[in-house]
Amino acid sequence: MNKESSTILITGGAGFIGSALVRHLIASTDCQVINVDKLTYAGNLDSLAEAADSPRHVFEQTDICDAPALGRLFEKHRPDAVMHLAAESHVDRSIAGPAEFIRTNITGTYNLLETARSYWNELDADKQKRFRFLHVSTDEVYGSLGPEGLFCEETPYRPNSPYAASKASSDHLVRAWHHTYGLPVLITNCSNNYGPYQFPEKLIPLMILNALEGKFLPLYGKGENVRDWLYVKDHARALHTVLEKGQPGRTYNIGGRCEKKNIEVVRAICSILDELRQVTGDGLQVTEDGDGLRVTGDTAEAPVTSHHSLITFVPDRPGHDLRYAIDDTRIRTELGWSPKESFETGLRKTVQWYVNNPEWIRRVRTGEYSQWIKTNYDTQGRGRF
Ligand code: NAD
Ligand code: DAU
Repeated sequence: MNKESSTILITGGAGFIGSALVRHLIASTDCQVINVDKLTYAGNLDSLAEAADSPRHVFEQTDICDAPALGRLFEKHRPDAVMHLAAESHVDRSIAGPAEFIRTNITGTYNLLETARSYWNELDADKQKRFRFLHVSTDEVYGSLGPEGLFCEETPYRPNSPYAASKASSDHLVRAWHHTYGLPVLITNCSNNYGPYQFPEKLIPLMILNALEGKFLPLYGKGENVRDWLYVKDHARALHTVLEKGQPGRTYNIGGRCEKKNIEVVRAICSILDELRQVTGDGLQVTEDGDGLRVTGDTAEAPVTSHHSLITFVPDRPGHDLRYAIDDTRIRTELGWSPKESFETGLRKTVQWYVNNPEWIRRVRTGEYSQWIKTNYDTQGRGRF
């Protein structure tokens, strides 16, 4: 896609990564963003922050499983590109109830591909050449690694959870629509994201909020599983880079080169919270400057109990993948992208964001989310598989 292309239809733009992408595109480009989202429990317009009020942002509450509605949106907005993020995204939920994952992630992607294909077929030659369909996927399609090795773009697919299998199916559909019909698609497979506005069912925000509320921090198994962490802003920049510079038909792995055991992540969160709690009273001030976050205020007595004491080991997630790690050489060398945020600075910003945004947290904790927590965690926050 070249710079003249200016209308981007994003699905899932009210979710965690989608909203980061919308905020990035509104702040850093002059694109028009058409944000198509059903607003499930995971979608929240509050996450768009100032981007929501931009005249270059249009929100359309639509289910990607509703094919006629998608057709009308394409006709109305005439997009130059599609960035497809809408999905059911939480592995634990896919284990508890896979049906919605099959519906949205597979049938929804199929509908979007078919709608895009018939729209693209009718474009004039120049617009057709510039059109792109970027499908946002996950490293989980590759299965699980042992202690050594990395996932590269040629790693065979071996999805293990219902979520991963549904994403793998959607990747195959996207690839086939390129191979068979010539639709100019791009696929990205990214590692674990973290950052502000992440729904508090995922590891990092769940642990931050439990710790703030003095609840247990439930680590599955021995907490030894490894994930590769990437700050969400860096993922948003990567997606924009792939859209602008990627070669149609090609897959790009995206990662943080930041492998951590879950126990290391949770310990890091506890240490940050312990440090923040030592600064108490009216004097507590958190500000952001060029060097990152700065906490100032009166230093109180050492905390009575450290947040580390809340860590508890609970029964493992069924089929829990041991380790994910990404070889991101292609996107770095071919497209010139690399992450800007380190895990240390990114995690500190993330913890502080949750401390500073109780209103966002209150609003995403809907009835449906409270029900999920009640069913899957006991009153003290211990998970029960
Ligand atoms: P999320 O759960 O935070 O957001 C998903 C969004 O999709 C929500 O706004 C939701 O309302 C919307 N949505 C769900 N079903 C829909 C439907 N039928 N029609 C329209 N909208 C619908 O997810 P996320 O973490 O932001 O992930 C976004 C994408 O990135 C997903 O495709 C996911 O597979 C992929 N991904 C996520 C990660 C991660 O670490 N979170 C890593 C790699 C890839
Ligand atoms: O790798 C990319 C994937 O990362 C994305 O495709 C998914 O959408 C995203 O949800 C994420 O999947 P994970 O299963 O890795 O993320 P989650 O935050 O659920 O869990 C991270 C790790 O922490 C995993 O090893 C399970 C563990 N965990 C998770 C929860 C919620 C716990 O130990 N305790 C918990 O309560």
